[in-house]
Amino acid sequence: MLSLFASIFLFLSCVVARPVEEATAASSYQIRGVSSPIFHLYLQALPSSASTPVLGPAASGEYFTIGSTIQSTNTSNYLNIGTASTSYKPLSFSKTSNTTAWALEGDTIITATASTYGRQLNFVACQLTGGYYSIYLQTGSDVPSGTCSNFQTLHLPCLC
Ligand SMILES: *[C@@H]1O[C@H](CO)[C@@H](O)[C@H](O)[C@H]1NC(C)=O
Ligand SMILES: *[C@@H]1O[C@H](CO)[C@@H](O)[C@H](O)[C@H]1NC(C)=O
Repeated sequence: MLSLFASIFLFLSCVVARPVEEATAASSYQIRGVSSPIFHLYLQALPSSASTPVLGPAASGEYFTIGSTIQSTNTSNYLNIGTASTSYKPLSFSKTSNTTAWALEGDTIITATASTYGRQLNFVACQLTGGYYSIYLQTGSDVPSGTCSNFQTLHLPCLC
């Protein structure tokens, strides 16, 4: 636990210590699906549950600062990966980050090769009511019950 806090502290110190030009270059981006049924649906919190990340309409899509953490600039919440015995891992938004596995590969959201999850880029999207889809990190072939679609990938609209 202490070493986890130490790494988080070191990570934060590095972020704070970054040169000004890099800090200003760190933009925030929307994150979206590119294949049916989540084609051009955007990452955001479910209106009825701030801790539930979903893909939904572009107009309510949040903006995120993406590094080894993914943080919403709209809500300040971090995108965390939860634990589960299944190969699909639930995602949640929280005021505190416990996930430093994220990375960008081009415009694609992945988990880093060196992370607990290895390099993963697939997500499972499951239909909710109201045109929203819940998402899980996919690390194998399990799929939740319901109307779900696996091998979905998440991308930045552009690298501008
Ligand atoms: C999120 O914040 C951006 C500015 O950083 C703003 O343009 C956008 O409308 C906000 N989105 C929501 C859903 O509040
Ligand atoms: C990380 O935090 C989330 C809440 O955002 C929680 O559901 C999850 O279990 C936590 N993961 C670990 C590994 O503690």
